[in-house]
Amino acid sequence: MSSLSNLGAVFPDLAVETQLGPLRIYEYQGADWLILFSHPNDFTPVCTTELGEAAARAPAFAARGVRLMALSCDSVADHVAWCADIAAARGAAVTFPIIADASRAIAAQLGMLDEEERCAAGLPATVRKVFFVAPDRRVRLVLVYPTAVGRSFAEILRCVDALQLTAKHPVATPAEWAPGGPVMIQPTVSNADAAARFPRHARVALPSGRGYLRSTSCPR
Ligand code: BEZ
Repeated sequence: MSSLSNLGAVFPDLAVETQLGPLRIYEYQGADWLILFSHPNDFTPVCTTELGEAAARAPAFAARGVRLMALSCDSVADHVAWCADIAAARGAAVTFPIIADASRAIAAQLGMLDEEERCAAGLPATVRKVFFVAPDRRVRLVLVYPTAVGRSFAEILRCVDALQLTAKHPVATPAEWAPGGPVMIQPTVSNADAAARFPRHARVALPSGRGYLRSTSCPR
């Protein structure tokens, strides 16, 4: 069964209500990357820190050609009031749209509901999900965190850097990769192609005798 959590799935062009007015997802995304991240509810502590962090880092996302969009299961009026709290708490204004999804219809459609946990009103809790959608509208990475664990927006930026790098070059980012650090040559690249594309790459000798551990400096 196809699911939006499957990488490569096409993200739907939803019509949504936000505190910045009604939007269509594709029109908002344009030719950029889209990051859509969900929250349980407005006026909750962890969500407030997350939205504040996203607002503070909005210029870093824009510099990478990424459009941010959040979702929280409350009304447009609540979002407007909450944005004032977020700006006061973090000192950064929320300049990106927050989808109003009080009925949870969009959260259900996008697979954002916890199967077990309930919010204070007794409704299914909305998890902290992050969809990374490429300019071709396909889902390239999905993060899912429970309500009690806030996300790292530094990690979300790192994922953007890795996705954009590996979309351009046949490399893969190793464990604990930081932007600009060495990368691995993908297993699908033949040794001849690796020598031509990455002439200064290094191959680690291993007991198996298989030459798959090939690293190179980060392509520009
Ligand atoms: C919060 O944002 O702080 C939160 C929301 C729902 C459950 C737990 C924490």
